[in-house]
Amino acid sequence: MTQRARTAILISGRGSNMAALLAAAADPAYPAEIALVLSNREDAAGLELARSHGIPTAVVESRVFGRDRAAFERAMEAELHGHGVRLVALAGFMRVLTEGFVARWQDRLVNIHPSLLPAFPGLDTHARALAAGVRLHGCTVHLVRPGVDDGPILAQAAVPVLPDDTEATLAARVLAQEHRLYPAALAWLAAGRVRVEGAVARIAAQTAEGVLANPLPLPAPLPTSGARG
Ligand code: GRF
Repeated sequence: MTQRARTAILISGRGSNMAALLAAAADPAYPAEIALVLSNREDAAGLELARSHGIPTAVVESRVFGRDRAAFERAMEAELHGHGVRLVALAGFMRVLTEGFVARWQDRLVNIHPSLLPAFPGLDTHARALAAGVRLHGCTVHLVRPGVDDGPILAQAAVPVLPDDTEATLAARVLAQEHRLYPAALAWLAAGRVRVEGAVARIAAQTAEGVLANPLPLPAPLPTSGARG
């Protein structure tokens, strides 16, 4: 088999997407190998989980660097290069990266965002989706560009917004899809199947089943008595 792409996962918190990527990469046939989990916070819960899987971890505390984002990123890149990393997957990494970093990792830097981009970039996506009254919400895996949550889309999964949804129920429904979507999209990138044409990412040999879509559940039948229509 050809060499697997050495990949770093960058986290800031609980690391459930990281866990989904680790689980996928535990299969030797998966085209990416997780060479490093790096956190900008020592207290990120995901670090312990990564360690328990025997994955190398590193902490580069962003707060130590204050406003010097370039110095913070240089310290991170020392870790990335030290671990022979070729691809970087952001998974709940809560720092905005500089244009320089994004340019150096162009088309090798991928992010997951909990909305159907370009709707709802930024924070609090589930509350904003509920407030906007959208009927479909979801998640997006995209290549990173300098704008926040901007860049060519690799994959999206949609979920219905149900009438009694709260932020928590909607977040949980989206998160379940994130855990399916991210491993699939990272695999395409690691296998060299992604070609970028301007703002659009094309996936080689993509089948209909690779376009993850989650249709609405059928509505409950309306009572027939007195129904008009
Ligand atoms: C996810 O919802 C992801 O889409 C967003 O941050 C959250 C991270 O969750 N970027 P986890 O740390 O992967 O559990």
